[in-house]
Amino acid sequence: MVVDYDKLIFDLSSEGKTGYMLPESEFDTENLSSYIPEEYLTDKELDFPEISEVDAIRHYTQLSMKNYGIDTGFYPLGSCTMKYNPKINEDVAAMDGFANIHPYQPLDTVQGALELMYNVAQSLIEVAGMDYMTLQPAAGAHGEITGVMLIKAYHESRGDYNRNKIIIPDSAHGTNPATAAMAGYQTIEIKSKPNGMVDIDLLKSIVGDDTAGLMLTNPNTLGIYDENIKAITDIIHEAGGLVYYDGANMNAVMGYSQPGRMGFDIFHYNVHKTFSTPHGGGGPGAGPVGVKDFLKEFLPTPVVDKKEDVSFYLNYDLEKSYGQMKGFYGHFGMLVRTYTYILTLGSDGLKHASAMAVLNANYLAQRLKGAYNLPLDRIYKHEFVLAGIKDDSHTITTLDVAKRILDKGFHAPTVYFPLIVPEAIMVEPTETESKQTLDGFTEALLEIAEEAKQDPQILKEAPHNTPVRRPDETKAAKDLILKYEGDLHA
Ligand SMILES: Cc1ncc(COP(=O)(O)O)c(C=O)c1O
Repeated sequence: MVVDYDKLIFDLSSEGKTGYMLPESEFDTENLSSYIPEEYLTDKELDFPEISEVDAIRHYTQLSMKNYGIDTGFYPLGSCTMKYNPKINEDVAAMDGFANIHPYQPLDTVQGALELMYNVAQSLIEVAGMDYMTLQPAAGAHGEITGVMLIKAYHESRGDYNRNKIIIPDSAHGTNPATAAMAGYQTIEIKSKPNGMVDIDLLKSIVGDDTAGLMLTNPNTLGIYDENIKAITDIIHEAGGLVYYDGANMNAVMGYSQPGRMGFDIFHYNVHKTFSTPHGGGGPGAGPVGVKDFLKEFLPTPVVDKKEDVSFYLNYDLEKSYGQMKGFYGHFGMLVRTYTYILTLGSDGLKHASAMAVLNANYLAQRLKGAYNLPLDRIYKHEFVLAGIKDDSHTITTLDVAKRILDKGFHAPTVYFPLIVPEAIMVEPTETESKQTLDGFTEALLEIAEEAKQDPQILKEAPHNTPVRRPDETKAAKDLILKYEGDLHA
Protein backbone atom coordinates (compact mmCIF):
# COMPACT_ATOMS: atom_id res chain seq x y z
CA MET A 1 0.00 0.00 0.00
CA VAL A 2 1.31 3.46 -0.87
CA VAL A 3 1.86 5.59 2.22
CA ASP A 4 -0.37 8.65 2.15
CA TYR A 5 2.13 11.43 2.78
CA ASP A 6 -0.68 13.97 2.57
CA LYS A 7 -1.71 12.97 6.06
CA LEU A 8 -0.62 15.14 8.95
CA ILE A 9 2.74 14.15 10.34
CA PHE A 10 1.02 13.15 13.58
CA ASP A 11 -1.13 10.69 11.68
CA LEU A 12 1.94 9.19 9.99
CA SER A 13 3.53 8.54 13.37
CA SER A 14 4.04 4.97 14.55
CA GLU A 15 5.50 4.04 17.87
CA GLY A 16 9.21 3.40 18.07
CA LYS A 17 10.25 5.01 14.79
CA THR A 18 13.01 7.60 14.94
CA GLY A 19 14.60 9.89 12.43
CA TYR A 20 17.33 11.28 14.60
CA MET A 21 19.47 9.98 17.47
CA LEU A 22 20.15 12.48 20.20
CA PRO A 23 23.59 12.30 21.79
CA GLU A 24 23.86 11.10 25.40
CA SER A 25 22.79 13.99 27.62
CA GLU A 26 25.51 15.60 29.68
CA PHE A 27 22.87 16.52 32.28
CA ASP A 28 21.37 14.34 34.95
CA THR A 29 17.98 13.78 33.24
CA GLU A 30 16.56 12.09 36.33
CA ASN A 31 17.01 15.28 38.23
CA LEU A 32 15.91 18.04 35.84
CA SER A 33 14.52 20.27 38.57
CA SER A 34 18.05 21.06 39.62
CA TYR A 35 18.45 22.86 36.25
CA ILE A 36 14.91 24.05 35.46
CA PRO A 37 12.45 25.43 38.05
CA GLU A 38 9.78 22.87 38.97
CA GLU A 39 6.89 24.97 37.60
CA TYR A 40 8.26 24.77 34.06
CA LEU A 41 8.53 20.97 34.04
CA THR A 42 5.81 18.64 32.78
CA ASP A 43 5.20 15.04 33.74
CA LYS A 44 3.03 14.43 30.67
CA GLU A 45 4.25 12.28 27.82
CA LEU A 46 5.33 14.50 24.91
CA ASP A 47 3.31 14.01 21.74
CA PHE A 48 6.03 14.28 19.16
CA PRO A 49 5.38 12.32 16.02
CA GLU A 50 7.54 9.21 15.79
CA ILE A 51 8.65 8.92 12.20
CA SER A 52 11.68 7.89 10.18
CA GLU A 53 13.86 10.41 8.35
CA VAL A 54 12.78 9.29 4.89
CA ASP A 55 9.08 9.51 5.77
CA ALA A 56 9.56 12.97 7.25
CA ILE A 57 11.38 14.10 4.10
CA ARG A 58 8.70 12.67 1.81
CA HIS A 59 5.92 14.23 3.85
CA TYR A 60 7.45 17.71 3.77
CA THR A 61 8.65 17.48 0.16
CA GLN A 62 5.17 16.54 -0.98
CA LEU A 63 3.67 19.33 1.07
CA SER A 64 6.08 21.83 -0.47
CA MET A 65 5.10 20.68 -3.94
CA LYS A 66 1.51 21.66 -3.26
CA ASN A 67 2.52 25.28 -2.97
CA TYR A 68 2.19 27.64 -5.85
CA GLY A 69 4.84 30.31 -5.52
CA ILE A 70 6.84 32.69 -7.62
CA ASP A 71 9.55 30.02 -7.90
CA THR A 72 7.06 27.66 -9.52
CA GLY A 73 5.05 29.88 -11.84
CA PHE A 74 3.65 33.21 -13.01
CA TYR A 75 1.85 35.09 -10.27
CA PRO A 76 0.08 38.14 -11.75
CA LEU A 77 -1.55 39.23 -8.50
CA GLY A 78 -2.40 42.90 -9.04
CA SER A 79 -1.38 45.23 -6.23
CA CYS A 80 0.94 42.62 -4.71
CA THR A 81 4.00 42.78 -7.03
CA MET A 82 4.81 39.10 -6.91
CA LYS A 83 8.08 39.40 -8.76
CA TYR A 84 10.91 36.95 -8.70
CA ASN A 85 13.19 37.31 -5.69
CA PRO A 86 16.80 36.80 -6.80
CA LYS A 87 18.53 34.12 -4.74
CA ILE A 88 21.63 36.26 -4.21
CA ASN A 89 19.49 38.27 -1.76
CA GLU A 90 19.12 35.13 0.34
CA ASP A 91 22.84 34.30 0.18
CA VAL A 92 23.78 37.74 1.46
CA ALA A 93 21.12 37.79 4.19
CA ALA A 94 22.40 34.41 5.42
CA MET A 95 25.98 35.66 5.83
CA ASP A 96 27.25 35.13 9.34
CA GLY A 97 27.84 38.79 10.04
CA PHE A 98 24.22 39.61 9.17
CA ALA A 99 22.32 36.51 10.30
CA ASN A 100 24.06 35.70 13.57
CA ILE A 101 24.22 39.00 15.37
CA HIS A 102 22.12 40.32 18.22
CA PRO A 103 20.58 43.78 18.65
CA TYR A 104 22.16 44.06 22.11
CA GLN A 105 25.69 43.48 20.84
CA PRO A 106 28.12 46.35 21.54
CA LEU A 107 27.99 48.80 18.64
CA ASP A 108 31.67 48.41 17.81
CA THR A 109 31.05 44.72 17.00
CA VAL A 110 28.22 45.44 14.52
CA GLN A 111 29.56 48.41 12.60
CA GLY A 112 29.07 46.56 9.29
CA ALA A 113 25.39 45.93 9.98
CA LEU A 114 24.86 49.53 11.04
CA GLU A 115 26.70 50.75 7.96
CA LEU A 116 24.38 48.63 5.82
CA MET A 117 21.34 50.19 7.48
CA TYR A 118 22.77 53.65 7.01
CA ASN A 119 23.55 52.99 3.36
CA VAL A 120 20.23 51.38 2.57
CA ALA A 121 18.48 54.40 4.09
CA GLN A 122 20.62 56.72 1.92
CA SER A 123 19.71 54.75 -1.21
CA LEU A 124 16.02 54.78 -0.32
CA ILE A 125 16.21 58.50 0.39
CA GLU A 126 17.71 59.08 -3.03
CA VAL A 127 15.15 57.00 -4.94
CA ALA A 128 12.21 58.74 -3.21
CA GLY A 129 13.76 62.22 -3.01
CA MET A 130 13.10 62.51 0.72
CA ASP A 131 15.51 63.89 3.35
CA TYR A 132 15.43 61.35 6.12
CA MET A 133 14.28 57.78 6.63
CA THR A 134 13.28 55.37 9.40
CA LEU A 135 13.74 51.69 8.65
CA GLN A 136 11.65 50.46 11.57
CA PRO A 137 8.18 49.76 10.14
CA ALA A 138 7.56 46.08 9.45
CA ALA A 139 5.36 46.36 6.36
CA GLY A 140 3.54 48.81 4.11
CA ALA A 141 0.54 49.35 6.34
CA HIS A 142 2.84 49.67 9.34
CA GLY A 143 4.72 52.37 7.43
CA GLU A 144 1.40 54.11 6.84
CA ILE A 145 0.50 54.21 10.52
CA THR A 146 4.01 55.45 11.28
CA GLY A 147 3.49 58.22 8.74
CA VAL A 148 -0.01 59.17 9.85
CA MET A 149 1.18 59.36 13.45
CA LEU A 150 3.87 61.75 12.20
CA ILE A 151 1.13 63.91 10.70
CA LYS A 152 -0.62 63.93 14.06
CA ALA A 153 2.57 64.62 16.03
CA TYR A 154 3.40 67.52 13.71
CA HIS A 155 0.03 69.26 14.02
CA GLU A 156 -0.15 68.72 17.77
CA SER A 157 3.39 70.09 18.24
CA ARG A 158 2.05 73.34 16.81
CA GLY A 159 -0.94 73.35 19.12
CA ASP A 160 -3.22 72.61 16.17
CA TYR A 161 -5.73 70.08 17.52
CA ASN A 162 -8.51 71.00 15.11
CA ARG A 163 -7.30 68.87 12.20
CA ASN A 164 -9.22 65.62 12.46
CA LYS A 165 -9.75 64.64 8.82
CA ILE A 166 -7.62 62.79 6.30
CA ILE A 167 -8.63 62.89 2.65
CA ILE A 168 -8.19 59.70 0.65
CA PRO A 169 -9.06 59.16 -3.04
CA ASP A 170 -11.27 56.13 -3.77
CA SER A 171 -8.45 54.74 -5.93
CA ALA A 172 -6.16 54.38 -2.88
CA HIS A 173 -5.07 51.07 -1.47
CA GLY A 174 -7.52 49.83 1.16
CA THR A 175 -4.95 50.09 3.92
CA ASN A 176 -4.90 53.91 3.57
CA PRO A 177 -8.37 54.59 5.00
CA ALA A 178 -7.94 51.77 7.51
CA THR A 179 -4.70 53.34 8.74
CA ALA A 180 -6.14 56.84 9.01
CA ALA A 181 -9.11 55.49 10.96
CA MET A 182 -6.81 53.53 13.28
CA ALA A 183 -4.89 56.71 14.02
CA GLY A 184 -8.17 58.31 15.11
CA TYR A 185 -8.90 60.37 11.98
CA GLN A 186 -12.13 60.75 10.15
CA THR A 187 -11.49 59.65 6.58
CA ILE A 188 -12.98 61.63 3.74
CA GLU A 189 -13.19 59.62 0.53
CA ILE A 190 -12.82 61.62 -2.63
CA LYS A 191 -14.24 60.16 -5.83
CA SER A 192 -11.99 59.83 -8.83
CA LYS A 193 -12.85 61.35 -12.16
CA PRO A 194 -13.81 58.96 -14.99
CA ASN A 195 -10.16 59.09 -16.12
CA GLY A 196 -9.07 57.55 -12.79
CA MET A 197 -7.49 60.70 -11.38
CA VAL A 198 -8.24 62.85 -8.36
CA ASP A 199 -11.01 65.36 -9.02
CA ILE A 200 -9.22 68.63 -8.32
CA ASP A 201 -12.38 70.76 -8.10
CA LEU A 202 -13.88 68.34 -5.62
CA LEU A 203 -10.66 68.36 -3.62
CA LYS A 204 -10.68 72.15 -3.47
CA SER A 205 -14.23 72.06 -2.18
CA ILE A 206 -13.51 69.72 0.74
CA VAL A 207 -10.19 70.96 2.18
CA GLY A 208 -10.28 73.25 5.17
CA ASP A 209 -8.71 74.04 8.50
CA ASP A 210 -9.78 70.61 9.75
CA THR A 211 -7.70 68.83 7.07
CA ALA A 212 -4.79 67.00 8.68
CA GLY A 213 -3.55 65.61 5.39
CA LEU A 214 -4.12 63.61 2.25
CA MET A 215 -2.84 60.14 1.41
CA LEU A 216 -2.17 59.44 -2.23
CA THR A 217 -1.42 55.99 -3.63
CA ASN A 218 0.52 56.65 -6.80
CA PRO A 219 0.40 54.98 -9.25
CA ASN A 220 -3.05 54.29 -7.86
CA THR A 221 -4.86 50.96 -7.66
CA LEU A 222 -5.99 51.36 -11.27
CA GLY A 223 -2.34 51.45 -12.32
CA ILE A 224 -2.64 55.13 -13.23
CA TYR A 225 -0.15 57.88 -12.47
CA ASP A 226 -2.03 60.99 -11.39
CA GLU A 227 -1.23 63.89 -13.70
CA ASN A 228 -2.23 66.61 -11.23
CA ILE A 229 0.10 65.82 -8.38
CA LYS A 230 1.55 69.29 -8.03
CA ALA A 231 -1.95 70.77 -7.85
CA ILE A 232 -2.92 68.18 -5.21
CA THR A 233 0.08 68.81 -2.95
CA ASP A 234 -0.33 72.60 -3.32
CA ILE A 235 -4.02 72.50 -2.38
CA ILE A 236 -3.34 70.48 0.78
CA HIS A 237 -0.36 72.61 1.81
CA GLU A 238 -2.30 75.81 1.30
CA ALA A 239 -4.95 74.42 3.66
CA GLY A 240 -2.23 73.70 6.25
CA GLY A 241 -2.26 69.90 5.85
CA LEU A 242 0.53 67.45 5.08
CA VAL A 243 0.71 65.16 2.08
CA TYR A 244 1.47 61.46 2.33
CA TYR A 245 2.66 59.35 -0.60
CA ASP A 246 1.89 55.63 -0.49
CA GLY A 247 4.97 54.43 -2.33
CA ALA A 248 4.15 50.74 -2.29
CA ASN A 249 3.97 50.97 -6.09
CA MET A 250 7.40 52.56 -6.53
CA ASN A 251 8.42 49.61 -8.68
CA ALA A 252 6.59 51.46 -11.47
CA VAL A 253 8.49 54.72 -11.27
CA MET A 254 11.96 54.15 -9.76
CA GLY A 255 14.43 56.51 -11.37
CA TYR A 256 11.65 58.39 -13.17
CA SER A 257 9.92 60.41 -10.50
CA GLN A 258 10.72 61.33 -6.91
CA PRO A 259 7.78 61.99 -4.59
CA GLY A 260 9.97 64.28 -2.46
CA ARG A 261 10.31 66.65 -5.39
CA MET A 262 6.58 66.76 -6.01
CA GLY A 263 5.72 68.23 -2.64
CA PHE A 264 5.16 65.11 -0.52
CA ASP A 265 6.10 65.39 3.14
CA ILE A 266 5.93 61.73 4.11
CA PHE A 267 6.42 58.60 2.07
CA HIS A 268 6.57 54.86 2.61
CA TYR A 269 8.05 51.98 0.65
CA ASN A 270 7.02 48.36 0.54
CA VAL A 271 10.53 46.99 0.08
CA HIS A 272 8.98 43.54 -0.29
CA LYS A 273 7.17 44.77 -3.39
CA THR A 274 9.69 47.17 -4.87
CA PHE A 275 13.04 45.64 -3.95
CA SER A 276 12.35 41.93 -4.30
CA THR A 277 12.24 40.67 -0.74
CA PRO A 278 10.03 37.61 -0.41
CA HIS A 279 6.45 38.15 0.71
CA GLY A 280 3.00 36.64 0.73
CA GLY A 281 1.62 34.26 3.29
CA GLY A 282 2.22 36.80 6.03
CA GLY A 283 6.01 36.70 5.81
CA PRO A 284 8.10 39.58 7.07
CA GLY A 285 8.40 42.71 5.00
CA ALA A 286 9.64 46.20 5.67
CA GLY A 287 8.01 49.57 5.17
CA PRO A 288 10.66 52.27 5.58
CA VAL A 289 9.23 55.77 5.94
CA GLY A 290 10.87 58.84 4.48
CA VAL A 291 10.22 62.38 5.60
CA LYS A 292 11.19 65.91 4.76
CA ASP A 293 13.70 67.62 7.06
CA PHE A 294 11.09 69.46 9.12
CA LEU A 295 9.63 66.12 10.28
CA LYS A 296 12.91 64.41 11.18
CA GLU A 297 12.66 65.23 14.90
CA PHE A 298 9.32 63.39 15.15
CA LEU A 299 10.55 60.06 13.76
CA PRO A 300 10.50 56.90 15.85
CA THR A 301 13.85 56.10 17.43
CA PRO A 302 16.45 54.78 17.18
CA VAL A 303 17.64 55.80 13.73
CA VAL A 304 21.08 54.83 12.48
CA ASP A 305 23.36 57.83 12.17
CA LYS A 306 26.98 58.43 11.37
CA LYS A 307 29.49 60.27 13.49
CA GLU A 308 32.12 62.44 11.93
CA ASP A 309 34.77 59.83 12.65
CA VAL A 310 32.75 57.51 10.36
CA SER A 311 31.53 55.19 13.06
CA PHE A 312 27.83 54.34 12.97
CA TYR A 313 25.57 54.59 15.99
CA LEU A 314 21.96 54.39 17.04
CA ASN A 315 20.51 57.82 17.53
CA TYR A 316 17.85 57.94 20.26
CA ASP A 317 18.13 61.67 20.48
CA LEU A 318 15.38 63.01 18.27
CA GLU A 319 13.77 65.86 20.12
CA LYS A 320 10.07 65.19 19.43
CA SER A 321 10.18 61.49 18.62
CA TYR A 322 6.95 59.73 19.51
CA GLY A 323 8.79 56.58 20.53
CA GLN A 324 9.33 53.25 18.86
CA MET A 325 7.23 51.47 16.23
CA LYS A 326 8.89 48.06 16.34
CA GLY A 327 11.25 46.02 18.49
CA PHE A 328 14.86 47.03 17.97
CA TYR A 329 15.45 48.41 14.43
CA GLY A 330 12.86 46.66 12.28
CA HIS A 331 13.25 43.64 10.01
CA PHE A 332 16.98 43.82 9.47
CA GLY A 333 17.11 40.73 7.22
CA MET A 334 14.69 42.35 4.77
CA LEU A 335 16.89 45.43 4.62
CA VAL A 336 19.92 43.28 3.78
CA ARG A 337 17.97 41.79 0.88
CA THR A 338 16.81 45.26 -0.20
CA TYR A 339 20.35 46.59 -0.23
CA THR A 340 21.60 43.56 -2.14
CA TYR A 341 18.94 44.14 -4.79
CA ILE A 342 19.76 47.85 -5.04
CA LEU A 343 23.50 47.20 -5.39
CA THR A 344 22.94 44.34 -7.86
CA LEU A 345 20.85 46.52 -10.17
CA GLY A 346 22.48 49.90 -9.61
CA SER A 347 20.66 53.10 -10.46
CA ASP A 348 20.36 52.31 -14.18
CA GLY A 349 19.12 48.81 -13.37
CA LEU A 350 16.40 50.11 -11.03
CA LYS A 351 15.20 52.47 -13.71
CA HIS A 352 15.22 49.66 -16.26
CA ALA A 353 13.24 47.42 -13.87
CA SER A 354 10.49 50.05 -13.68
CA ALA A 355 10.47 50.49 -17.45
CA MET A 356 10.03 46.74 -17.93
CA ALA A 357 7.27 46.51 -15.32
CA VAL A 358 5.37 49.21 -17.21
CA LEU A 359 6.04 47.68 -20.61
CA ASN A 360 4.85 44.25 -19.52
CA ALA A 361 1.61 45.60 -18.05
CA ASN A 362 0.81 47.60 -21.16
CA TYR A 363 1.63 44.69 -23.44
CA LEU A 364 -0.86 42.49 -21.60
CA ALA A 365 -3.55 45.21 -21.43
CA GLN A 366 -3.38 45.73 -25.16
CA ARG A 367 -3.43 42.02 -25.99
CA LEU A 368 -6.40 41.32 -23.72
CA LYS A 369 -8.64 44.27 -24.45
CA GLY A 370 -10.40 42.55 -27.37
CA ALA A 371 -11.81 39.78 -25.18
CA TYR A 372 -12.01 41.55 -21.82
CA ASN A 373 -13.42 44.95 -20.89
CA LEU A 374 -10.68 47.54 -20.44
CA PRO A 375 -12.57 50.57 -19.09
CA LEU A 376 -9.69 52.97 -19.68
CA ASP A 377 -7.87 52.30 -22.92
CA ARG A 378 -4.73 54.22 -22.09
CA ILE A 379 -1.12 53.85 -21.00
CA TYR A 380 -0.84 52.23 -17.58
CA LYS A 381 2.04 51.97 -15.18
CA HIS A 382 2.86 48.58 -13.64
CA GLU A 383 -0.69 47.15 -13.53
CA PHE A 384 -4.12 47.50 -15.07
CA VAL A 385 -7.68 46.54 -14.23
CA LEU A 386 -10.08 44.75 -16.54
CA ALA A 387 -13.81 45.00 -15.89
CA GLY A 388 -14.61 41.32 -16.46
CA ILE A 389 -14.89 39.24 -19.59
CA LYS A 390 -16.77 40.41 -22.70
CA ASP A 391 -19.66 38.00 -22.50
CA ASP A 392 -22.90 38.53 -24.40
CA SER A 393 -24.78 36.07 -22.19
CA HIS A 394 -23.80 38.00 -19.05
CA THR A 395 -23.50 34.78 -17.10
CA ILE A 396 -19.73 34.43 -16.84
CA THR A 397 -18.31 36.18 -13.81
CA THR A 398 -14.79 37.22 -12.92
CA LEU A 399 -14.77 34.43 -10.35
CA ASP A 400 -15.38 31.90 -13.14
CA VAL A 401 -12.43 33.29 -15.10
CA ALA A 402 -10.19 33.26 -12.01
CA LYS A 403 -11.10 29.64 -11.27
CA ARG A 404 -10.59 28.52 -14.86
CA ILE A 405 -7.12 30.09 -15.15
CA LEU A 406 -5.99 27.71 -12.38
CA ASP A 407 -6.70 24.77 -14.68
CA LYS A 408 -4.36 26.30 -17.20
CA GLY A 409 -1.46 26.37 -14.72
CA PHE A 410 -1.45 30.03 -13.69
CA HIS A 411 -2.09 31.79 -10.43
CA ALA A 412 -5.19 33.96 -10.76
CA PRO A 413 -4.91 37.74 -10.90
CA THR A 414 -6.40 39.79 -8.05
CA VAL A 415 -10.18 39.81 -8.45
CA TYR A 416 -12.96 42.11 -7.29
CA PHE A 417 -10.40 44.73 -6.27
CA PRO A 418 -10.25 47.68 -6.60
CA LEU A 419 -13.87 48.05 -5.59
CA ILE A 420 -14.44 50.93 -7.97
CA VAL A 421 -14.28 48.62 -11.01
CA PRO A 422 -17.15 46.13 -11.44
CA GLU A 423 -16.03 42.51 -11.93
CA ALA A 424 -12.43 43.71 -11.54
CA ILE A 425 -9.54 41.57 -12.76
CA MET A 426 -6.37 43.32 -11.66
CA VAL A 427 -3.23 42.16 -13.42
CA GLU A 428 0.33 42.98 -12.40
CA PRO A 429 2.84 41.00 -14.43
CA THR A 430 5.97 42.65 -12.93
CA GLU A 431 9.23 43.19 -14.75
CA THR A 432 10.71 39.77 -14.11
CA GLU A 433 8.60 37.81 -16.60
CA SER A 434 9.62 36.88 -20.13
CA LYS A 435 7.57 37.58 -23.25
CA GLN A 436 6.98 33.81 -23.56
CA THR A 437 5.38 33.72 -20.12
CA LEU A 438 3.26 36.78 -20.84
CA ASP A 439 2.18 35.26 -24.15
CA GLY A 440 1.31 31.97 -22.44
CA PHE A 441 -0.85 33.81 -19.91
CA THR A 442 -2.52 35.86 -22.65
CA GLU A 443 -3.29 32.75 -24.68
CA ALA A 444 -4.82 31.10 -21.62
CA LEU A 445 -7.09 34.10 -20.95
CA LEU A 446 -8.09 34.31 -24.62
CA GLU A 447 -8.87 30.60 -24.64
CA ILE A 448 -11.09 31.16 -21.60
CA ALA A 449 -12.92 33.93 -23.45
CA GLU A 450 -13.50 31.47 -26.30
CA GLU A 451 -14.68 28.77 -23.89
CA ALA A 452 -17.13 31.29 -22.42
CA LYS A 453 -18.80 31.37 -25.83
CA GLN A 454 -18.53 27.70 -26.77
CA ASP A 455 -18.82 25.84 -23.47
CA PRO A 456 -19.65 28.17 -20.56
CA GLN A 457 -20.32 25.23 -18.23
CA ILE A 458 -16.62 24.38 -18.23
CA LEU A 459 -16.00 27.78 -16.62
CA LYS A 460 -18.89 27.47 -14.19
CA GLU A 461 -17.51 24.19 -12.87
CA ALA A 462 -13.83 25.20 -12.86
CA PRO A 463 -11.30 24.47 -11.52
CA HIS A 464 -11.18 20.90 -12.72
CA ASN A 465 -7.54 20.01 -12.01
CA THR A 466 -6.84 21.35 -8.52
CA PRO A 467 -6.95 19.31 -5.29
CA VAL A 468 -9.63 21.65 -3.90
CA ARG A 469 -12.26 22.84 -6.37
CA ARG A 470 -14.76 25.54 -5.41
CA PRO A 471 -14.95 26.00 -1.67
CA ASP A 472 -17.76 28.10 -0.30
CA GLU A 473 -15.89 31.42 -0.42
CA THR A 474 -17.60 32.88 2.63
CA LYS A 475 -17.23 29.75 4.72
CA ALA A 476 -13.61 29.39 3.64
CA ALA A 477 -12.88 32.94 4.79
CA LYS A 478 -14.91 32.84 8.01
CA ASP A 479 -14.66 29.29 9.19
CA LEU A 480 -10.95 28.65 9.25
CA ILE A 481 -9.49 25.43 10.56
CA LEU A 482 -6.08 26.43 11.77
CA LYS A 483 -5.22 23.77 14.29
CA TYR A 484 -4.81 20.02 14.42
CA GLU A 485 -8.16 18.49 15.29
CA GLY A 486 -6.99 14.92 15.86
CA ASP A 487 -6.57 13.38 19.28
CA LEU A 488 -2.91 13.46 20.14
CA HIS A 489 -3.50 11.50 23.31
CA ALA A 490 -5.46 8.65 21.72
C1 LIG B 1 -0.44 50.53 -2.62
C2 LIG B 1 -0.29 49.70 -1.37
N1 LIG B 1 -0.26 50.30 -0.17
C3 LIG B 1 -0.11 49.60 0.98
C4 LIG B 1 -0.01 48.23 0.97
C5 LIG B 1 0.08 47.50 2.27
O1 LIG B 1 1.32 46.88 2.42
P1 LIG B 1 1.54 45.66 3.40
O2 LIG B 1 0.73 44.52 2.86
O3 LIG B 1 3.01 45.41 3.35
O4 LIG B 1 1.09 46.08 4.76
C6 LIG B 1 -0.03 47.55 -0.26
C7 LIG B 1 0.08 46.07 -0.29
O5 LIG B 1 0.05 45.44 -1.30
C8 LIG B 1 -0.16 48.29 -1.45
O6 LIG B 1 -0.20 47.70 -2.65
